[in-house]
Amino acid sequence: MDVAALRWSWNRITAAGPRAAKHFYATLFVIAPETRTMFPTNMQHQEDKLLAALGHIITNIDNGDALTAFAHHLGADHRRFCGVDVEGRPVPLAERHYIWVGQALLATLADFVGSEWTPRLRDDWAAAYEFVAKLMLAGAAASERLTPPSWQAEVISVERRRSDVCVLTVRPNYLCNYLPGQSLPTQVPALRTWRYLSPANAPRPDGTLEFHVRATGRFSTHLVRRVAVGEVLRLGHPTGTALSAYNRAPHRPLLLIAGGTGVAPLRAIIEELQQGSGRPTTLVVGGKSPDDLYDHQALLKLAASAPAMDATANGFQPWLRYVPTVEIGWDWDGEVGRAADTALRMGPWRDADILVCGSPTMTQATIAALKASGIDPDRLLVERFDHSVYPPLAAADTPTPNLTWAAR
Ligand code: HEM
Repeated sequence: MDVAALRWSWNRITAAGPRAAKHFYATLFVIAPETRTMFPTNMQHQEDKLLAALGHIITNIDNGDALTAFAHHLGADHRRFCGVDVEGRPVPLAERHYIWVGQALLATLADFVGSEWTPRLRDDWAAAYEFVAKLMLAGAAASERLTPPSWQAEVISVERRRSDVCVLTVRPNYLCNYLPGQSLPTQVPALRTWRYLSPANAPRPDGTLEFHVRATGRFSTHLVRRVAVGEVLRLGHPTGTALSAYNRAPHRPLLLIAGGTGVAPLRAIIEELQQGSGRPTTLVVGGKSPDDLYDHQALLKLAASAPAMDATANGFQPWLRYVPTVEIGWDWDGEVGRAADTALRMGPWRDADILVCGSPTMTQATIAALKASGIDPDRLLVERFDHSVYPPLAAADTPTPNLTWAAR
């Protein structure tokens, strides 16, 4: 297989951007109209995901272990994508779907590569796709024996904390294992679309999950404005490695920096630490104004309940320090400044592992500030908290060398 040829020909697809993805889906839905009901009505996000995943696979095509881990996981995860037949019965994803997707992919490549699309290049692409498709099917078959493809979760409480932020608790009908810091694919069945939500709590014996949602798109706006107690959501298997690697060196102090609903997975990590013996941890939560600190009361309570440990040169202190900080605040007697600046003022953080979680803009600015201050990038664990991005790809994009989806 000529890997260099796969990569240059793939560049024609990336150069064409969303046009290529639109072409791919239009071709797929002509070849196999029955696949249309598997996808959301609005395809905008799916188009980005497909390109990102295929680009990632091509980049790693000669990296056997990483590719296998990624494709196995993606294949197992694809079990939750069912179609429906004419009588409305679910149609699970099977080998024929992969054949149709392969045909649509080759047709799209042929059109975008143009006169340089040779029989040899076609054969190389067909072999590469078949290899990945078989890995995905093997991943699906292996997980079939162990877990359901997806399961229901009933909303048992809804707390609207601001006009655009809500905290909801759900009770799933399947007890799944997740690591604090991971995300679960979540579907509002009426919208047919899946997004990622990260629980704000460590796993509980009753399996209930608390999600924090900020209205940014159709899915999150439904949860913030419309969802009611009794509504049933659908959940899939947890994914994401970035933040859940917080325990890789338990002897190090932790600095957790959050913006917006990025506070949720960090709270889950703190709850998990609390169930053990604790670990010197500083949680800095930033907002533009005090109104942005929607989880302030819960975090104050959590910090107040953290017992003391002999973790510092000054002797016994609570292992958890909670530092809210705002950029503008009348009548605010706490820290003032962006989360990164406040955290840096409280340093040095030479020995600490640093977890950052927030919007793409917040995480980018925070990483830049931390790196500019001389912090070793190997100490940074970063999750861009974007409900629509497939977490293994978000982690793979993060410019921090120690994070890789292959670790899962
Ligand atoms: C090499 C083959 C494939 C790759 C690399 C791939 C990649 C992806 C990725 C990365 C996602 C996003 C997952 C997420 O955000 O949770 C996705 C979603 C999806 N894929 Fe695939 N996929 C492949 C094959 C297929 C096949 C054969 C089908 C069935 C026709 C399929 C149907 C779907 C559906 C229905 C979604 C969810 C769309 C949504 O709700 O947004 N995929 N795929």
